Amino acid sequence: MSLDISRPDLTVGVIGAGAMGRGIAQVTAQGGMRTILYDAAPGGGARGKAAIVEQLKSMVAKQRLTQEACDAAEAALVVADSLQALASCHIVVEAVFEDLEVKRKLFCEIEAIVPETTIIASNTSSIRIASIARSLKKRDRVCGMHYFNPVPLMKLVEVIRAADTAQWVVEAMVALGKRQTRVPVVVGDTPGFLVNLGGTAIGTEGLRIYTEGRATVSQIDAIMRDAGGFRMGPFELMDLTGIDVNFPARKIIYEGFFHDRRMTPSPYHEGLFHAGRLGRKTGGGWYGYGEKGEKIDPGADHATTAEPASTIVAGPGASSVVLDLLKAGGARVISIDDGRSPMVVTPLGDDCTTVCVERKLDPKRAVAVDPTGAVAKRATIMVAPGGDGVARDAVAATLSKAGASVTAIRDCPGFVLQRMRAMIANLGCEMAQIGIASAGDVDTAMTLGLNYPQGPLAMADLMGVRETHEILVRIQAITGDDRYRPSQWLRRRALLGLSATLPE
Ligand SMILES: NC(=O)c1ccc[n+]([C@@H]2O[C@H](COP(=O)([O-])OP(=O)(O)OC[C@H]3O[C@@H](n4cnc5c(N)ncnc54)[C@H](O)[C@@H]3O)[C@@H](O)[C@H]2O)c1
Repeated sequence: MSLDISRPDLTVGVIGAGAMGRGIAQVTAQGGMRTILYDAAPGGGARGKAAIVEQLKSMVAKQRLTQEACDAAEAALVVADSLQALASCHIVVEAVFEDLEVKRKLFCEIEAIVPETTIIASNTSSIRIASIARSLKKRDRVCGMHYFNPVPLMKLVEVIRAADTAQWVVEAMVALGKRQTRVPVVVGDTPGFLVNLGGTAIGTEGLRIYTEGRATVSQIDAIMRDAGGFRMGPFELMDLTGIDVNFPARKIIYEGFFHDRRMTPSPYHEGLFHAGRLGRKTGGGWYGYGEKGEKIDPGADHATTAEPASTIVAGPGASSVVLDLLKAGGARVISIDDGRSPMVVTPLGDDCTTVCVERKLDPKRAVAVDPTGAVAKRATIMVAPGGDGVARDAVAATLSKAGASVTAIRDCPGFVLQRMRAMIANLGCEMAQIGIASAGDVDTAMTLGLNYPQGPLAMADLMGVRETHEILVRIQAITGDDRYRPSQWLRRRALLGLSATLPE
């Protein structure tokens, strides 16, 4: 079996004309395919088409689409009054309510109408494709086609291969995605598929650091933006997507992976969910929001009136990136301890306490600075408990004089950025390891689907594969938590000095 996606008469049915169905129908019609849009709500299909045409016209007005292309897409888009009208479709994509029973019933109705050769796909974000396909007589033509919102702007589509999905179906849907000008990645039928599972790392690790009382919501977000190059921190993102969406998704993934500690949700997240503080849409979530929707951010900068340090002792193996920055801030950096000046250490994976104890350093004067990420933009510092703050404030003032914003967190293994990046990289490696997608597709999907500055495997390469592995090993040793166990994919490449992106 095969389906030639380039055939001129290719007809695609889209069921459900809500936010997603409209977007899917739009990119299909723009791809020059005859598109039949159906919605069960009276007038739903027509409203959907009107909204799409409106969208196309605004693209013409902004000169992002020619008038001819707009007219062609409008002509290719047909509204159906009944499901029966989809009988001639080569492919049907379902985007109705996220409810297993609704989808199962609909799939049976579709099967009774279309030929055996028609591919039937679901845009579900959280239901296993195999459980929808189960109710059908012929399951090998069923797959997932998971688009992202808003579809015309989000280029990624996950083609989900369920237990019974035939290879020709996967190939045809990859070709369909390309004809819709999407970037398709082939993904396993596992909880959260690829992007939503991959997104678990940043969300749950941000929550873990916050829950442990190591850093505030604002601090974590600012570090991820400024030092990590992320467009948004995890808490801003949760407020944007809605706590009513992301908390249940976290639970589904945690349950779906049989309580793997890497996916553990946080009781604080659940607390907001129960309180109805659902994020921007309710005027409050992790942050408060003003009347015009502006975020009320308590800020992440360390406020100090201390004088910059005149002399700083470079601790054992301190990073040259950090030492150079301190020099730029006017400090004289010495390598032999003078017994008085602040001592800077730059651990990977350790907290300041562990460094002091293992290296026999004075915890009152030791200041840990995260050497990873854009330190010159935002430097994260921390001291061991019992420090009097004098050394910390002098180092903060020096970094600040060198032009860096400074965030002072509580003593924390792996600071914030190391921990977050290592967890993102580790989960990416695990996804490649267990075959959810190829290594290349893991990175493609995470950059396109979540706007990450790098894919998880490229992130491990950026930090150093050995260093990423070491960070996880150290955090696991300090916390005793299985959550930080390194993926075997990462471990092998770290030990052999290879790129994390290297396929098996
Ligand atoms: N919104 C997102 O960000 C997003 C992203 C990816 C995937 N999804 C998935 O896409 C699907 C649709 O989501 P949405 O946000 O567009 O929902 P929506 O509520 O905006 O639209 C659903 C539409 O389906 C119609 N409908 C319901 N039952 C129907 C039936 N039996 N036959 C025909 N039409 C029916 C409704 O009238 C409605 O217009 C869900 O499975 C959702 O999980 C959503």
